[in-house]
Amino acid sequence: MRSPRRRTLVLAPKTLSMKNTARKNGRNPLFLFLFTLSLFFMFVYNEDIIKSIADYSLSSSSRTMSQELSQQELPTDKPRHEEHLRLPGIIDGLEDEEEEEGEEIGQVQQKIVETTSANDPAATKVPVKVDVPRVLRAPPTVAAAKMSHGDEKRRPEAMPQRLVLNVPESCDLFEGRWVYDDVSYPIYKERECGFLTEQVTCTRNGRRDDTYQKWRWQPRDCDLPRFDARVMLERLRGKRLMFVGDSLNRNQWESMVCLVQSVIPWGKKTLTKSGSFNVFRAEEYNATVEFYWAPFLVESNADDPKVHSIPDRIITNSIAKHGKHWKGVDYLIFNTYIWWMNTPKMKVLRGKGTLDRGSTDYTRIERTPAYRRVLKIWARWVQRNLNHKKTMVFFMSLSPNHMRPLDWDSPDGIKCAMETMPVMNISHPLEMGTDWRLFAVEESVIRSMKFPVSFIKITGLSEYRKDGHTSVHTLRQGKLLTPEQQADPATYADCIHWCLPGLPDTWNEFVYARIASRPWR
Ligand SMILES: *[C@@H]1O[C@H](CO)[C@@H](O)[C@H](O)[C@H]1NC(C)=O
Ligand SMILES: *[C@@H]1O[C@H](CO)[C@@H](O)[C@H](O)[C@H]1NC(C)=O
Repeated sequence: MRSPRRRTLVLAPKTLSMKNTARKNGRNPLFLFLFTLSLFFMFVYNEDIIKSIADYSLSSSSRTMSQELSQQELPTDKPRHEEHLRLPGIIDGLEDEEEEEGEEIGQVQQKIVETTSANDPAATKVPVKVDVPRVLRAPPTVAAAKMSHGDEKRRPEAMPQRLVLNVPESCDLFEGRWVYDDVSYPIYKERECGFLTEQVTCTRNGRRDDTYQKWRWQPRDCDLPRFDARVMLERLRGKRLMFVGDSLNRNQWESMVCLVQSVIPWGKKTLTKSGSFNVFRAEEYNATVEFYWAPFLVESNADDPKVHSIPDRIITNSIAKHGKHWKGVDYLIFNTYIWWMNTPKMKVLRGKGTLDRGSTDYTRIERTPAYRRVLKIWARWVQRNLNHKKTMVFFMSLSPNHMRPLDWDSPDGIKCAMETMPVMNISHPLEMGTDWRLFAVEESVIRSMKFPVSFIKITGLSEYRKDGHTSVHTLRQGKLLTPEQQADPATYADCIHWCLPGLPDTWNEFVYARIASRPWR
């Protein structure tokens, strides 16, 4: 079985060639009928409708069609306790990120506004001002323009309201394998999501291969359902979902925005960036998908979402100032990792002091105990301030980097820049420089909590995805890399963040599976 869209495409040329034969032979009526029929299919059932049919009917059959390139089971997320020293490659990559962050947001704002006016001269231009909450509207797409709220109401059977997925809580979603599947993936197209920032639009930024968008994660003991925006939005109706953490969580937030925005008509969705908050709003659902910048979760001197390129990084023992923005949120998704990899020791402010008063009386603590200390502060905050009947809490495990090609037997590689395929040789355990000690801390702190936290163990399965990083197809200091910089991946490749569509979409499918498998109250 092929997708309906492909069938239509095959039909057209065949009919056209028949047309010529028919004219010669003078057998017009039958031909004209077929030709009209094919035109009818091509124009009445436009690509978007066909696509949505394909999405529904193919999601179940895709499994058999996909080429299973990787047959063996991947190992589980087993924490490996090794000493991890400061890796020059990682530090280089991280410095790149930090420098870039400073101007990035302003640049991105500018870019979205430009895109809007370029695509649609009639679109409202939003003046770009600094330090004022800005509301950006995505450029209208053909699909959005055709879909009005009224249409949806007339097709109530198409609304999967109150649907419950049957992914068992007991199934270990993170043990499994990557399967090539170009039928069901990617879940959305890069050009169809007007909310993506230039940091992650790898194709637009010049990346030629797109195989990295077409891998499906297949858990060993159950299936991971394909993301369905309508099902997710029903779960979000009248609610707030918030990512809290560092730029990897922002990467995942961008993915979530793209995953849900496709079914929301143009004009009914907005994106606002203001201070530590990025808020995507789906008006008709009264729902938000938010990101809150707090790279260490606790207060630190890196909390300014724009200016956090600070050589002398200090974290504190306080979380309340951030935490007050998380109270009452319905779905909270936390992470913190990459900033911990800068130095083997962390500077931690003494006592209960905050940085407001200019206090700089700190002690140096080894990375692992410092991390444990911060996660315990976070865990205590969750238990004291959230109600598990209202709020579902997730914690994303470490997102791995791919800096050293020798880790995957590729002596000619340059960081992650040459990689177009996941790691396929799974005859030996991976060693990607991930600090698994921090993973072990996450697991033990979460296990010790009375509050039920869903630990989303992306680390091991993401280690295979050396192909998924933005590499040289990204920004540096708010600007696209120049051709000269792109030609020098050893210096400029970003092997920390991920292209979208891409791996973070799978991370969100885990979150989606857990949210949509809960019974409705
Ligand atoms: C919209 O959602 C918020 C929570 O995000 C809720 O407080 C508010 O009552 C909702 N409004 C309506 C009209 O449902
Ligand atoms: C897979 O890894 C093993 C162990 O490092 C190595 O001996 C083998 O040559 C690799 N196979 C391929 C196809 O690269």
